[in-house]
Amino acid sequence: MGNMKHETVHNITLPKIGFGAWRIGGNSSSNPALDSKSLTALRSALAAGYTHFDTAESYAGGHSEELIGQAIRESGMKRENVFITSKVTESHLKYDHVLTACAGSLRRLKMDYLDLYLIHWPGTGTNYEETFRALNKLVRDGKVKHLGVSNFDLKLLKQVQKLSETPLLTNQVPFSVSDRSYVENGVLDYCQQNEILLTAYSPVDQGKLRSNKALEAIAKAHNATIFQIALAWVISHPRVITIPMSFNPQHIQENFDAAEIELTSQEINSLANLK
Ligand SMILES: NC(=O)c1ccc[n+]([C@@H]2O[C@H](COP(=O)([O-])OP(=O)(O)OC[C@H]3O[C@@H](n4cnc5c(N)ncnc54)[C@H](OP(=O)(O)O)[C@@H]3O)[C@@H](O)[C@H]2O)c1
Repeated sequence: MGNMKHETVHNITLPKIGFGAWRIGGNSSSNPALDSKSLTALRSALAAGYTHFDTAESYAGGHSEELIGQAIRESGMKRENVFITSKVTESHLKYDHVLTACAGSLRRLKMDYLDLYLIHWPGTGTNYEETFRALNKLVRDGKVKHLGVSNFDLKLLKQVQKLSETPLLTNQVPFSVSDRSYVENGVLDYCQQNEILLTAYSPVDQGKLRSNKALEAIAKAHNATIFQIALAWVISHPRVITIPMSFNPQHIQENFDAAEIELTSQEINSLANLK
C-alpha cells in the first residue's frame, strides 16, 4: 500500500494511479441495478490502496458521486486520506450554475469539500472570466481545494491559466499507447514545463487496448498483462498520472500494481514508436 508512486506539483501530491468512476452507478443516468457491482468495484479499489477517485456530476446523473461517498464512509477512511476529483458539466459554466453544481456534488458525496474541481469540457461560447469568478470563489470559500480543466487544448489551457487565482493542478485528457493527440498538440510538453499534471483518461482505450508483439514481449518480460504495461508506459512520463476504470476486482488490483512496474528506457521507446 505504501509503494504507490506519486507526482507532486505546487506541494500537492497525487498517486500516479487513481480510480476512474465513469460508468460506476450507471451511464448517463443512475442505474440502481448496477449498485452492487459498482460498490464491489469501489470497495476493491479502497482495499487495494487507491486514494484518488475521479468522478463528475454527469457520471450516472450524479449517482457515481453518491456511491463513492458511500464506499468511502463505509470504509472508515478519513476524509483527508482520500483525494476526490469531480467536474462541472460544460452546460453549467455560468456563475450561479457553477456554484449550484458544486453544491450538488458535495451533497451527493456527503462531503464538505472537493480536493479538485475540473471544468469537464470547454463549453461553446463560454465566458471563462465568469466561470472562474465562481471557481475562484469556491476555492476561497473552502468548498474546493484546487482547480483544473479537462479536454482543453493548448490555447485554451493558456487562456484560462491566467484566470485562476490558484495554480491549475491538471488538464485531464485522453492519453494511451494508441492515443497521442494531446502529445502531438503540445499539451503534454506544456504541462511538463509548467508544473501542471496531465491526468490521462481512457489509458487502456476503454478496454479496447490492442495487443501487439512489443506489448506482449514486454508483458512477458515483466510477468505482467498488456494492460499493466500500457498503464506503466503512460505513467512513465513525468507529470502524468492516470485513472483507469474497472468493475473487475482482479483488474482493479492489477491496475494499481502496474505503478510498480519499471520499464527500461528501451521498452518505453519501443512502445513510443508504435501507434
Ligand atoms: N474527462 C473526461 O472527459 C473523461 C472521459 C473519459 C473518461 N474519463 C475518466 O477516466 C476514467 C478511465 O477512462 P475510461 O473509463 O474511459 O477507460 P479505461 O480506463 O481506458 O478503460 C476501462 C475499461 O477497460 C477495462 N479494463 C480496465 N483495466 C483492465 C485490465 N487490467 N485488464 C483488462 N481490462 C481492463 C475495463 O473492463 P473491466 O471492467 O472488465 O475490467 C473497462 O471496460 C473514467 O472512468 C473517468 O473517470 C474522463
